[in-house]
Amino acid sequence: MKHEHYMDMNRLSDWSVEQINELLDTCLLLKEMEEKGVRLPLLKDVVLAMMFDQQSTRTRVSFETAMTQLGGHAMFLDGSSLHAGSGQEDIAETAAIISSMADAIMIRSLSQRVIDEVVANSTVPVISGMSCALFQEDGFGSQEQHHPTQVIADLITMIERKPAGKKLSDLTFMWLGDGADGFDCVFMDHLSLFPRLGIRVICAAPKKFWPSDELLAKCRAQAAEDGNGEIICTEDPLEYAGETDFFYTGVVNYHNYGVSEEEAFKVFYPKYQINADLMAHAPKSAWVLHYLPGNRNWELTDEVWDGPQSALLPLGENRLYAQRGILVYILWPLRRNTSEYLK
Ligand code: CP
Repeated sequence: MKHEHYMDMNRLSDWSVEQINELLDTCLLLKEMEEKGVRLPLLKDVVLAMMFDQQSTRTRVSFETAMTQLGGHAMFLDGSSLHAGSGQEDIAETAAIISSMADAIMIRSLSQRVIDEVVANSTVPVISGMSCALFQEDGFGSQEQHHPTQVIADLITMIERKPAGKKLSDLTFMWLGDGADGFDCVFMDHLSLFPRLGIRVICAAPKKFWPSDELLAKCRAQAAEDGNGEIICTEDPLEYAGETDFFYTGVVNYHNYGVSEEEAFKVFYPKYQINADLMAHAPKSAWVLHYLPGNRNWELTDEVWDGPQSALLPLGENRLYAQRGILVYILWPLRRNTSEYLK
């Protein structure tokens, strides 16, 4: 049984807008403290087990660094180091055993089903480090793909860089690329969360690559209960470029459409590419984001990637501040004996 105060970060839809806002405040406070040279061991001796069945640079390094900086320890476990990786032990038993020893689990898996099983069998909080099915057999094309910790870093970056005088709920966010159900785990979470915060989301893609009517209806209904942000799909990025505060793009996994690299490029680029032509229509205050890693001169041209409106590297760095805030928000309340640090 999980402690009654534990919460997981599996689907952001399980988090209220109030909790998301509290979490963002925590991330920003910890970043401000770091900038003032204050680093508190809020998670002293806490152990995070990190399970990966996919590669990672940012997610692994940011969680491991965050745990060390908070006074705890992160343990890297991949398929070659766990019996589950060779099929000798099932994932439910693995989660039960790890959670009987570690204080929290972070897991990245191809399959959301695996993460759900870890959540169901863990006695400690579980944080999703991304479910991103690359192949049909892992659920590619299903709405159930998530990258919650990336989206928290996206929001920190947007709060830091939004035009003066604007609130999150005043922002317009444009996604360019594949917006179809389950084809980009990060956009799936943008689409479901941002309108709940009042952010207007524009999906610019060929119509065939728009979210389904069913998914749009679900996200609009969730938004109506909270921030009521608008969701618009368009085949013409220029239609809304002048109103956009943040342009965001990601990798098109064309292999899964059974088309060649050349064919995929022609479908999406240059029309849905973030390039100088698009940015010439954008406000000077607009920023360009990408979760990375990405493909230069596919979704972003070199001149934009390295240009003055690129926030690609600051967004990458904010993965660290997102993880610190997430770990503290989820785990610190149970370590009340450390409350003197905040006095
Ligand atoms: N954006 C992201 O999750 O990066 P990594 O795959 O490097 O962790």
